[in-house]
Amino acid sequence: MRKYKIAVLVGSLRKESLNMKMAKELIAFAPELLNGEILSIGDLPLYNQDLESSVPESWRRFREQLRGSDGLLFVTPEYNRSVPGVLKNAIDVGSRPYGDSSWDGKPAAIVSVSPGAIGGFGANHHLRQSLVFVNVPVMPQPEAYIGDADEMFDENGHLKNDSTRDFMKQFLSAFSEWLQMHVRSSDEVAVH
Ligand SMILES: Cc1cc2nc3c(=O)[nH]c(=O)nc-3n(C[C@H](O)[C@H](O)[C@H](O)COP(=O)(O)O)c2cc1C
Repeated sequence: MRKYKIAVLVGSLRKESLNMKMAKELIAFAPELLNGEILSIGDLPLYNQDLESSVPESWRRFREQLRGSDGLLFVTPEYNRSVPGVLKNAIDVGSRPYGDSSWDGKPAAIVSVSPGAIGGFGANHHLRQSLVFVNVPVMPQPEAYIGDADEMFDENGHLKNDSTRDFMKQFLSAFSEWLQMHVRSSDEVAVH
């Protein structure tokens, strides 16, 4: 069966990250069709165009991972009403060299997770703004602003609440449809 390879980008480096827990749950819940893999972004040197003449190994690896994926799933906290620097840096690294962005045309979905009440709305929408520029079609609905997340996971990192679990499954099923509508056939990657 053809599966779609999904690059999962998590905007937190914290060991006990709520967003990382959510990303792992999403990978576990993903419909048969989706195969999610979390990409490392914490080792990408801060973007500096001078480095393009001798590209750091981690930049090269990251760009290749993006190119080899069919779609993108972002799971991010909100920092000061915007996207954490580590995730913005990853977007910048993937977007260059000029004219050769690794993001181009990859269908995506965004989940923002916060202990706060508004569920990372600011980060979610700032992220959409950057993704428009790098030509990533982001699923408009359903939106996923997951608030009050500090009480949401059990000691094994699993979602405690049936209604949140059901919502995330519906979200993934919608993403699976979005992906099939927007994936470019030349980008499709068979997973065996
Ligand atoms: C620098 C910084 C800025 C933050 N700004 C916000 C914010 O604007 N909105 C919000 O809901 N939470 C904010 N928080 C709290 C984070 O939502 C919280 O630390 C969350 O657990 C981070 O996600 P993680 O658990 O995946 O690391 C901020 C945290 C840090 C460290």
